[in-house]
Amino acid sequence: MARVAIVGVGAIGGVLAALLEVTGSHEITLCTRRPMVRLTVRTPGSVVTVKAKNFTAPALAEPVNWVIVATKAYDAQGAAAWFPALCKNNAPVAVVQNGVEHRERFAPYVNPDSIVPVIIDCPVEHQKDGTVRQRGPAHMKAEAGPLGAEFVQLFEGSRAQVEQTADFVSVAWRKLCVNSVGALSALTMKPAGVLRGEAMAEIARQMVAECVAVGRAEGAQLDDSTAQQVLDGYRAQPLDSVNSMLADRLAGRPMEIDTRNGIIVRKGAKHGIKTPLNQMAVALLQVL
Ligand SMILES: NC(=O)c1ccc[n+]([C@@H]2O[C@H](COP(=O)([O-])OP(=O)(O)OC[C@H]3O[C@@H](n4cnc5c(N)ncnc54)[C@H](OP(=O)(O)O)[C@@H]3O)[C@@H](O)[C@H]2O)c1
Repeated sequence: MARVAIVGVGAIGGVLAALLEVTGSHEITLCTRRPMVRLTVRTPGSVVTVKAKNFTAPALAEPVNWVIVATKAYDAQGAAAWFPALCKNNAPVAVVQNGVEHRERFAPYVNPDSIVPVIIDCPVEHQKDGTVRQRGPAHMKAEAGPLGAEFVQLFEGSRAQVEQTADFVSVAWRKLCVNSVGALSALTMKPAGVLRGEAMAEIARQMVAECVAVGRAEGAQLDDSTAQQVLDGYRAQPLDSVNSMLADRLAGRPMEIDTRNGIIVRKGAKHGIKTPLNQMAVALLQVL
């Protein structure tokens, strides 16, 4: 049994809480900005009601054995405000977010050695009625190591596929290749079907090609076929599938522009690699 706190209980935080609930092994704490009376997660096979403590201010929180951060990347500073109370006994911090800078993002707030970067794949949406709708299975990859192994164990007995990876850099950049293209949906305000046309598809391939070039310079192993694989993945989705960047724009929330596209431009500049399409996407998204 572990005491596990989740900081940021939106779509992904909700799924993580439900997975931990299903194991029946943990005491769960939900750290939110507003009171959470009930957390209900509709998974592909069941409806899970999470039994948890809920704290709405860091000053009220109690020490735990594990902290899992599932806020948007741009909310790192607010998420970190929970650490002094939750990590009083040196609890490790798993960062379950998109992007490639999980450790850098939280290193100013907690010992970098106690951070476990995690990439999650899970189609999920926060519904207007406050429930979370998980449309498909959850897959997580944690950076390999003793803490990565402990993180995997937390989810034993849940229906998620959780594993360690010795090559987290490649996993994170591969996911970034997929996420970078999400900007096209956010810009056009159209779901995944927007990539069925050949003109948009070619732009998407070139955006991914930029990400592949920069990722390789950062040490990621990425196939030459990555751009086409990413495009095929989008085209296999239902026409009305909404990525989280488009969901944020539609809801009037800030978008993870720097985490998903700005990073390609920044790291590209560091390596002398031109990234004009991602640069244009960042500029246009920032104007929005
Ligand atoms: N959604 C997906 O399908 C998906 C899939 C894979 C990966 N991801 C990644 O997973 C991460 C989380 O995404 P998401 O879609 O779950 O985001 P989300 O639905 O927007 O949830 C984020 C939650 O964090 C909360 N939060 C922000 N600052 C906080 C603070 N200081 N203290 C406590 N809670 C705080 C927000 O609360 P408020 O309600 O008060 O704003 C919100 O409920 C992102 O990096 C995203 O890119 C998402």
